[in-house]
This record gives sequence, C-alpha cells and structure tokens, in this order.
Amino acid sequence: MLRIGMLTSGGDCQALNATMRGVVKGLFNNVKDLEVYGFMNGYKGLIYGDYRMLTAHDFSGILTRGGTILGSSRQPFKLMREPDANGLDKVEAMKQNYHKLRLDCLVILGGNGTQKTANLLREEGLNVLHLPKTIDNDIYGTDMTFGFYSAVNIATEAIDCIHTTASSHNRVFIVEVMGHKVGWLTLYAGIASGADIILLPEIPYDIKKIAEAINRRKANGSEFTILAVAEGAVSKEIAALPKKEMKKKMAEITQKYPSVSYKIAEEIKEATGMDIRVTVPGHTQRGGSPCPYDRVLSTRLGSAAAGLILNGEYGYMVGIVDNKVKKVPLGDVAGKLKAVDPKCQEVREAKRIGISFGD
Ligand code: F6P
Repeated sequence: MLRIGMLTSGGDCQALNATMRGVVKGLFNNVKDLEVYGFMNGYKGLIYGDYRMLTAHDFSGILTRGGTILGSSRQPFKLMREPDANGLDKVEAMKQNYHKLRLDCLVILGGNGTQKTANLLREEGLNVLHLPKTIDNDIYGTDMTFGFYSAVNIATEAIDCIHTTASSHNRVFIVEVMGHKVGWLTLYAGIASGADIILLPEIPYDIKKIAEAINRRKANGSEFTILAVAEGAVSKEIAALPKKEMKKKMAEITQKYPSVSYKIAEEIKEATGMDIRVTVPGHTQRGGSPCPYDRVLSTRLGSAAAGLILNGEYGYMVGIVDNKVKKVPLGDVAGKLKAVDPKCQEVREAKRIGISFGD
C-alpha cells in the first residue's frame, strides 16, 4: 500500500490542478494499492488535520481548470516555529498528522515560502517532494515555474488592449504587472506586448531617463507611450538607501499611493506634463485556464514526481533545466530567490531594439 498526501500552499496559479493530476495519474497508473489524501487550504489542513481522501475521479477533467481543488492559504514560514493562538506547536502537529495517516510522502505545490516549509519538514524527517508553482517564476534551481506563462499571456493581453486606446488618445499608459520582488513576468509580458518602457525591481529606474524615452518617442512622431511596470519597481534614489531606510520609504509609498505605478505616474506627469492613466490587472493574472505550455510543464513535473515516489526518492524539488526535468535537492535551493539579471540576454536584446528600462 502506498499512501501520499498532497497540498497546495501560497497564492494560487493556473496550473496547480494540472500538476496534481500529473502526479496522481502517474501513480494510479502504476500502483495497485494507492491512497491519496488531500490537505485542505495549504499547510493549514496539515496542521489542523483537515483532509479528505481523493479518488482518481477527483483528478479527472481538471487539466484545464484554474485555481486548486484543494484550496490554498498563506502560512508564513517565519511563523511556522511559533505556536498558534491556542498554543499549538504547528510543526509537531504537521508531523503527527503525517504519521497518523502513515504517509509515504507528502507532495507540496507552492512558491518560495512554501518551499522553505517543505524543507523544514524534510529536516524534521518527513518524506517530501516540492513542485515549483508561481506566476512570479522566482524559484531558484528551476528555469520555469508552472503558472508563469499563463500569467504572461494574461498580462500581455492586458497591455495589447491598452495599445489601441493609448494610440487614440496620445497618452502615457502604465500597466502594472505582478511578480512580487522580481521582474520576470513584467519583462516577458512587456517584450511580448511591445511595451516601450519596462521597469523591473532589479533595474532601479531614473525618472529623468523615463521622461527622456517618452520625449524621444514624441520627437519621432509617437504621441503615446506604454510602460510595463513591475509591482516591485523601485527608483534609483530609493534603491540606493540602506535596507532599513529603503523599507521605510517603501512603506510610505504604500501608504500614500494605491501602488507604485501611481507614484511613477505622478513623477512622469511632473517631468513631461503628459496625460497619464494607470491600469492594474492584479489577480486576473493568476486566473483562468492554464496555457498549453503550462499544461505540458505541469504534466511533466507531476509525472516526474510520481516517478520519484515510485523509486522511493524524496527530499527534492522537481524542476526543469534546459527543458529536462531535474530533481533538485531541497536543501540546496530553499530560501534562495531567482531574480532577473540586469545583464541577461532578454534585457540586452530588448534594449537593442529600443525598449527603455529607465536606467
Ligand atoms: O506570488 C504570487 C503573487 O501573485 C505575486 O505576484 C503578488 O505579489 C502576490 O502573489 C499577491 O499576493 P496576494 O494574493 O496574497 O495578494
């Protein structure tokens, strides 16, 4: 008898169900006696013993369904070692529930924070496998995370729609793209949609350079400009501050503006006098069906995780490097972030064709 547990944790994304389907189909097709337990709402379900037994039927027809059939929640890693409001030791509770169900392995789908807790559980002696989910594509040790390309599609479409209206009105448009502390999503959606200016957290912007790029376009006969701005974009001045002061400044911005794009809009208005509009697609970027690329990636990663379980190999993230599925020791990657290298090929190629990064 093989018993596995599964949970999805952190912000959701489009291909969570597709990935779980890959794991479970890979097992049901190869194991006679299999029990699959789904923990509800991320680590919360594992802590408080909220789970249900799943059948093959639960995984049928979910390849294309966004969200997660298990629900998700954010359980910050830094609070895992702290008792809950009733004094419950969360780590001990997770271990007890794992052992109570006599699980052979826990398959954990999630982003960076989720991965850190998965590694903690590994250090505590549980058999775990991590599958890298996030629209941010910021997980170290894998070229790609599932969810990323689906979100790129949505952010690209948002900017495409802005293009026609921007050209009719001779305005500057900012489209704010998710991505947390990194700029992958903005970089890819910005290039895919032909944005004129792309602002990333990894390349702090100089408002004078942005104004120059807008004015240069005007001088060349283009009366409108489109900016793809990462939600974590930061100015050169703020990026140069010591960490503590930088955090304080960022907090001030959050208090004063709905988001960083509104601050940038104000600065551009001051510098150019142009009419500006801000669009924030927000959580639409995590919604809807996974794109075909993500369906393939998720199926491959899920199936590969099943392969590891069948071999009794645990303690890995199942990632993809150079289009080859790769098992990466969790201890080597947990806690590391994959940010955009300002000198990477994508940025250099974009700059060559005239896209400004405001630097
Ligand atoms: O990590 C995925 C993500 O969508 C980020 O891009 C974004 O910063 C964050 O989650 C939003 O989190 P929440 O859904 O908790 O508002």
